[in-house]
Amino acid sequence: MGQAKARSATIYNAGFGFHLFRVQPMDLGLKNRIALVAASSQGLGLATAEAFAAEGCRVAMCARNEQTLQAAAEKIRKQHNVEVFAEGFDVGDPAAVSRFVAAVASKFGSVDICVTNAGGPPAKGFLAATLDDWQRAIELNFLSTVYFAREVIPHMQRKHWGRIITITSITTKQPVADLVLSNAVRAAVVGLVKSLANEFGKDGILVNNVGPGFTATDRLKELAKARSAASGKNEQEIFDAWASDAPLKRLGEPRELADTVVWLASERASYVTGQTVLVDGGMYKGL
Ligand SMILES: NC(=O)c1ccc[n+]([C@@H]2O[C@H](COP(=O)([O-])OP(=O)(O)OC[C@H]3O[C@@H](n4cnc5c(N)ncnc54)[C@H](OP(=O)(O)O)[C@@H]3O)[C@@H](O)[C@H]2O)c1
Repeated sequence: MGQAKARSATIYNAGFGFHLFRVQPMDLGLKNRIALVAASSQGLGLATAEAFAAEGCRVAMCARNEQTLQAAAEKIRKQHNVEVFAEGFDVGDPAAVSRFVAAVASKFGSVDICVTNAGGPPAKGFLAATLDDWQRAIELNFLSTVYFAREVIPHMQRKHWGRIITITSITTKQPVADLVLSNAVRAAVVGLVKSLANEFGKDGILVNNVGPGFTATDRLKELAKARSAASGKNEQEIFDAWASDAPLKRLGEPRELADTVVWLASERASYVTGQTVLVDGGMYKGL
């Protein structure tokens, strides 16, 4: 009886090691990691690139407008004293994505963290959306993630460490009126995220999706303008309605989304994969 008790205590300690853990401060462990953030000259992508730079990461950025992009990259270099590599191209172009990832790996040695992002699709109802709108939404908001994942996963496998984080939308959980392109196409990203998490967990690669709610960026101004034109309400009324729909009664700040992405990329989220995390002030109505 005494022996059995002793054995079970040993198994308990060996199996779970409760007594071996020592609580450490929440160091994110990101210093010198190589973080690629797509579509990052402004808005959520820029806030995310800045947040990684603030953690001491080397950062790779892209967007179509080269001038705005290089200005954003220079600001980050000066503010955070980290290396930043920035190149202008369209994330819907697979050859350009491939060239960019190769250039990042050649400059920094690898890619540890890849945050996929792109401009949002136009605000339209189903009958107003053209077939070209559907093609472009699939290309930008789904296939661009496929393009990046194909290129970065082999680098991550070699290091047996990696993080892929997709920036999508609250629409992955709850459709938003007049955003049929986002409501439909972003669901495919969630399927991809879960599949990649399942397939590459054994390689130390964690894959998660972050869905912003209404967050104060230029994209939101665009949406407010479209909704104002359709409804006759002024843009301020539209912003106020979005804010009051969230239990926190305000719009999100880009930095709040960025901090969640950085945490998911960190050593502190080492047992989190295949998830969708909403940063929406509680707006999602489900359980
Ligand atoms: N803000 C929100 O409330 C909210 C809510 C839910 C979902 N989202 C989604 O989150 C994503 C980011 O939103 P945001 O608010 O940060 O938008 P944003 O302020 O319009 O910024 C978009 C960024 O992406 C770049 N970009 C756009 N299309 C690109 C392309 N084809 N190739 C490369 N770069 C591209 C833009 O630069 P260039 O124009 O120079 O390329 C810019 O840097 C979007 O998909 C949006 O739909 C946003």
